[in-house]
Amino acid sequence: MSIRHEVIEKNVVLLAILTLVTISIGGLVQIIPLFAVESTIERVRGMRPYTPLELMGRNIYIREGCYTCHSQQVRPFKDEVERYGHYSLAAESIYDRPFQWGSKRTGPDLARVGGKYSTDWHVAHLVDPRAVVPESIMPGYRFLATRALKYDDVDQHLKALSLVGVPYSDEMIANAKADLEAQADPDADGSGLAKRYPKTVVGKFNAEVRDLTEMDALVAYLQMLGTLVRFIDLTPADLRQ
Ligand code: HEC
Repeated sequence: MSIRHEVIEKNVVLLAILTLVTISIGGLVQIIPLFAVESTIERVRGMRPYTPLELMGRNIYIREGCYTCHSQQVRPFKDEVERYGHYSLAAESIYDRPFQWGSKRTGPDLARVGGKYSTDWHVAHLVDPRAVVPESIMPGYRFLATRALKYDDVDQHLKALSLVGVPYSDEMIANAKADLEAQADPDADGSGLAKRYPKTVVGKFNAEVRDLTEMDALVAYLQMLGTLVRFIDLTPADLRQ
């Protein structure tokens, strides 16, 4: 054993410090290239950023703490896949900041709830869950149906997300308010919205109230969850995890 090595082995503090330095270098060599390698980020056809209305709905979902009872992540197990549909891909959360995977399921997983029920069902359920599911223990959110949606600053929400890498273009940011209104108005010219955000569900979600309410935004969000990736169009190579 060389004399220098003996010094290290006989001094536990020095040994600890040098071990830490060595492990750190090893860790950095493994981790840093991942930030630069394009293949770290798996992409799947169909994903697009949230429309302005969906994004405002998502903010309400977070504000109301729906994630404390609902997960948004179908795990790759047979029982989950049979109940909820295809297991979730990482790419499906690519524009979620913060992601809503959740860790608690008092209620069912919502990752693929979009299109499962009619819009009227969602409104009735959120107003009074027991009106449609008698045994439900979910709290009601009646106030969402009458509270006006505040969206004057919706373009700022898009802009903030674009700063952290969500691909909202300048055009999307400039048209954010108009796109939000067009999505909740079936009579509006929705061609710009459809071009910027393919597969958008348009409609007056909270049909009872003429003005835009928080319910409109939340239901628009729920109705798109899990609908963007069409799994029958994908080859096994697309699903490589
Ligand atoms: C205290 C827990 C709890 C909270 C908080 C909660 N839920 Fe639920 N949720 C449930 C339970 C339990 C069910 C199953 C019974 C039912 O359908 O009402 C459910 C069902 C649902 C369903 C139907 C899912 C399906 O596939 O049948 C939707 C949609 C839903 N919740 C949305 C929401 C939204 C949006 C929020 C926030 C505004 C929310 N929930 C907050 C407990 C909760």
